[in-house]
Amino acid sequence: MAVIGITDEGETEDMGVARLNLDDQEYEFPVIVGSEGEVAIQSHALRSLTGAITLDPGYGNTGSCRSAITFIDGEQGILRYRGYPIEQLAEEASFVEVCYLLIYGELPNEEELEDFRARLRRHTLIHEDMKKFFEAYPPTAHPMAILSSMISSLATFYSEEEDVDLHVVRLIAKLPTIASFSYKKSIGQPFVYPQNDLGYAENFLNMMFSVPCEDYEPPPVLARALNMLLILHADHEQNCSTSTVRMVGSSGASLFAAISAGIDALSGPLHGGANQQVIEMLEAIRDSGDDFSEFVGRAKDRNDPFRLMGFGHRVYKNFDPRASILKGAADEVLAELGVDDPLLEIARSLEDVALRDQFFVDRKLYPNVDFYSGIIYRAMGLPTNMFTVMFALGRLPGWLAHWKEMSVDPDNRINRPRQIYTGAGARDYLPLADR
Ligand code: SDX
Repeated sequence: MAVIGITDEGETEDMGVARLNLDDQEYEFPVIVGSEGEVAIQSHALRSLTGAITLDPGYGNTGSCRSAITFIDGEQGILRYRGYPIEQLAEEASFVEVCYLLIYGELPNEEELEDFRARLRRHTLIHEDMKKFFEAYPPTAHPMAILSSMISSLATFYSEEEDVDLHVVRLIAKLPTIASFSYKKSIGQPFVYPQNDLGYAENFLNMMFSVPCEDYEPPPVLARALNMLLILHADHEQNCSTSTVRMVGSSGASLFAAISAGIDALSGPLHGGANQQVIEMLEAIRDSGDDFSEFVGRAKDRNDPFRLMGFGHRVYKNFDPRASILKGAADEVLAELGVDDPLLEIARSLEDVALRDQFFVDRKLYPNVDFYSGIIYRAMGLPTNMFTVMFALGRLPGWLAHWKEMSVDPDNRINRPRQIYTGAGARDYLPLADR
């Protein structure tokens, strides 16, 4: 791959270095090219050589690591887990297979998959003492806050000395149990224990929707939809919550602490919390009877903090391939469930209006993964405040894969960005009487 050099003579080809001219001094920095042709200037010697740092708020142009887990091409709308296209995995794989693929790097063979499933089945319960924690939460507690606290509390039951892969299995096996318990707590129903003869999706649906006084069979259409939704959310390279997991992990903190921090980062409305916000926005549009002009107008108004939730993306400047899959799945799942949700039609019309509006076209704002996912979760019978919990269930294997990759990366060091100070210069303390 010819590397484009950046020199004061303009762009040239086949340069293995990038040259920087600062204060009439020229510096060279090595350039690396990834397996998909991505080019990076290695700047770790920048400050020692030049005394200067880079400033990149939000890290939009800053690579934090080399990673072999997920590849995204934002311009082409490409997403691959360990090289496998998301379209194929969403259509043909099971979520448990995708967990194994992301964490261990290859699709499991039959024996490896059965062994992994058996290990997961052995760890679906949580310690009975952890059930007491739920009694202390108010019924209105947001399940994401419960999830983060419970995952952090797992560290009090298990030793750091134990094998990391055992902790990986524990987290994948226990997250659905904790998530469903937080839902049952919020509706005042008894907890439903995991059933190890059920598949991952079926077991979660059973814990969520079965009640002791009735028979419940997880509908296959819901299990298929859940399996696909979890796969679509399983990883997305260095997004905010995954970078949080890597940052917390870089200090040597426990895996449980890092995953708990990832859950907290995901809960933000600009990140995983957007799927809940999308539904609330669509309901507001429905209730206002607006023809979208008010909401689209507000989204375009620089003085209005309102954003069109479920639109835009730091990386995708084309369709988010996950949104394309979910757009099609929403029709299929609602039709198969016989659900006629007016919010789906509102979502489609809003997308149509936005994609023809120059403001969105100029900024390449397309629907992202959160725009249609909530419509499907609603049709499945999930309450809105559980939507981001579903995102966390899906993203867990990605967080685990990145934490493991970080923990063995020879380049890894505690994450500690620099800053440009803009505050007051040196001054002496003033006694209170003199202020
Ligand atoms: C996820 O990183 C990942 O991979 C995340 C994720 C994953 O799988 O982990 O894909 C999951 O978090 C998806 C994103 C979910 N969030 C939302 O849907 C919230 C709404 N979207 C925006 O807040 C925004 O688009 C972000 C946060 C997603 C991206 O923000 P950026 O990259 O910082 O872009 P920006 O805010 O600088 O916006 C650039 C311009 C601005 O306008 P100008 O200042 O240039 O005039 O676009 C505008 C923004 O005002 N803009 C929007 C908008 N998103 C961006 N205007 C209206 N509505 C929007 N949704």
